[in-house]
Amino acid sequence: MKQIILIFILCLTQVSATKIKQQYAQSKYCIGCHKEQGKDWITSLHSKSHLTKNTLYLKILQYIEEEKFIYKEVEALRCGKCHNPRMDTKDIDLSYSLSKAYGIEDENSKKIDAILNNETNKEGISCIVCHNVDKINYKSDDLSKTDKHKKYTLARGYEALTFGPSEIMVGPYKESFRTTHHKMKQGTHFRENVNTLCFACHYDSKNKRDVLTYNTGAEYEQSKSSEKCVDCHMGKYEKNIISPRVISKVKAVNRNTRRHLFSGARNSNIIQDAINISVKNKNNSLLISLENKTPHKVPTGFAGRELEIEIIYLKNNKPIKKIIKRLNTLYLNRRGNETISYIATELKYDSRLKTKEIRKYKIQNITGATSVQINIWYRLIKESLVPLLNIEDQIFLKKYLIYKKRLKL
Ligand code: HEC
Ligand code: HEC
Ligand code: HEC
Ligand code: HEC
Ligand code: HEC
Repeated sequence: MKQIILIFILCLTQVSATKIKQQYAQSKYCIGCHKEQGKDWITSLHSKSHLTKNTLYLKILQYIEEEKFIYKEVEALRCGKCHNPRMDTKDIDLSYSLSKAYGIEDENSKKIDAILNNETNKEGISCIVCHNVDKINYKSDDLSKTDKHKKYTLARGYEALTFGPSEIMVGPYKESFRTTHHKMKQGTHFRENVNTLCFACHYDSKNKRDVLTYNTGAEYEQSKSSEKCVDCHMGKYEKNIISPRVISKVKAVNRNTRRHLFSGARNSNIIQDAINISVKNKNNSLLISLENKTPHKVPTGFAGRELEIEIIYLKNNKPIKKIIKRLNTLYLNRRGNETISYIATELKYDSRLKTKEIRKYKIQNITGATSVQINIWYRLIKESLVPLLNIEDQIFLKKYLIYKKRLKL
């Protein structure tokens, strides 16, 4: 009987099914040979996907802990499905919460702390996360007969990923034998089907109350775009030798390569390319038109983002009236107060720009104004959530300028 219980506990605390060999477990071991990929990736959000690397992520976990009494470590394991997909932990929350609540450090809680804070997981979406993906899994009911686009809709994060042996790097090319450090394998999810790799985590997600928290992949499919996620977020193909410093008898081939920026507002100018903007003064009204150029919403992804249109009327260069329009989401809790998507009971509204949408605003000019200033900003976290989450980090408080214009009236 004792043995059975022991086996049962071991099963519950089962970690990653495929163990990563030490020499592949951290990006620093890749960057020695793959400097170009490494120096881009480190600037991306993918490298910051862990509670020790991202203060917004941590603040949200702390907020959930206060509101729902769920230990942040326990919630982090759930979020880790996408944020730290090599964590691959199962139902450990109950025993962990109990040992935390009683302040007991047992084998189990030590193990969970170790999983959460091991060096691979701390690196978030690292080289070995993407390049060790052997297959993208669909659940059987994902394979809808009527709409073949809908086949990625159920499995998420690690559920959607089968990892291969850690010495085989899956990528766009076949084995070249230029290095003995690792093997190579070609995967269609790095070539024609590369969107399916991104969809594993970026498709959509709902919270326990069935409220939508993410939807980028589903938005993208509605757009019927032929551009791939990587065309914009990893840039156009360049010709390069991969790992040029490796000396080998096998001749190096000039390959198509892409930047590993996974561009966002923080590490690129990508938000400047998001919308076509036109501003006119006609018949004593201000006409503003915003056209979404991306194949997903703007903003998309994390539901806390915000676009802010700031219209300032001036008289002889002195501001006399300010009008603000916000494009964002509003999530409510049971009591009808604003909260974050992950624990909301309702998505009250979503005023973000839809794919292909052209949004028009007509604003009656203010009498006496001699000019008007229009600024369009992007915020990583909407203003009304800042006090709620107690955000202090400048990276998240900063407003990113997309557009500005001054018109004489
Ligand atoms: C000793 C140098 C070296 C180290 C260390 C190294 N690589 Fe490589 N890698 C290479 C070389 C050489 C190639 C082959 C380039 C070619 O054929 O064009 C390559 C190819 C690749 C490819 C392309 C695979 C394909 O099938 O298209 C990927 C992906 C890759 N490496 C990822 C990694 C990752 C991830 C790590 C760390 C876990 C790593 N590499 C560590 C030298 C290295
Ligand atoms: C035509 C270029 C283009 C393509 C194709 C594209 N995007 Fe984007 N993406 C953008 C632009 C521009 C932004 C910045 C504006 C914004 O935040 O929405 C962006 C923003 C994002 C963001 C950050 C959003 C935020 O505000 O937090 C994510 C995540 C993202 N895209 C994922 C994807 C995925 C996944 C795909 C493929 C399914 C994809 N994108 C396809 C242009 C593109
Ligand atoms: C989010 C997933 C993801 C992560 C993380 C990632 N890669 Fe890649 N990588 C890709 C994709 C997708 C391609 C294929 C791009 C293409 O050819 O369209 C690629 C291509 C490559 C290639 C082939 C040449 C090139 O640059 O296009 C190498 C080598 C490589 N990656 C190494 C790395 C290393 C090293 C890291 C960590 C520092 C890393 N990758 C992190 C998705 C990823
Ligand atoms: C294993 C899950 C996973 C995969 C696969 C993945 N991503 Fe991500 N991606 C994430 C997570 C999680 C974040 C946010 C990280 C954070 O800040 O905690 C993110 C962030 C991003 C961002 C940054 C947005 C911003 O606001 O700056 C872009 C762009 C992006 N991913 C594009 C891609 C593309 C393109 C692919 C496919 C080649 C891809 N991702 C594959 C999980 C994934
Ligand atoms: C279905 C996969 C998935 C799950 C589950 C998930 N996330 Fe994410 N998360 C993402 C992706 C993809 C992004 C990148 C989108 C973007 O940047 O807009 C992201 C981005 C974020 C960001 C923005 C980070 C930044 O620096 O801007 C935060 C914060 C975040 N997630 C917190 C959480 C928390 C907390 C949980 C658990 C309650 C969670 N996520 C669960 C996929 C997921």
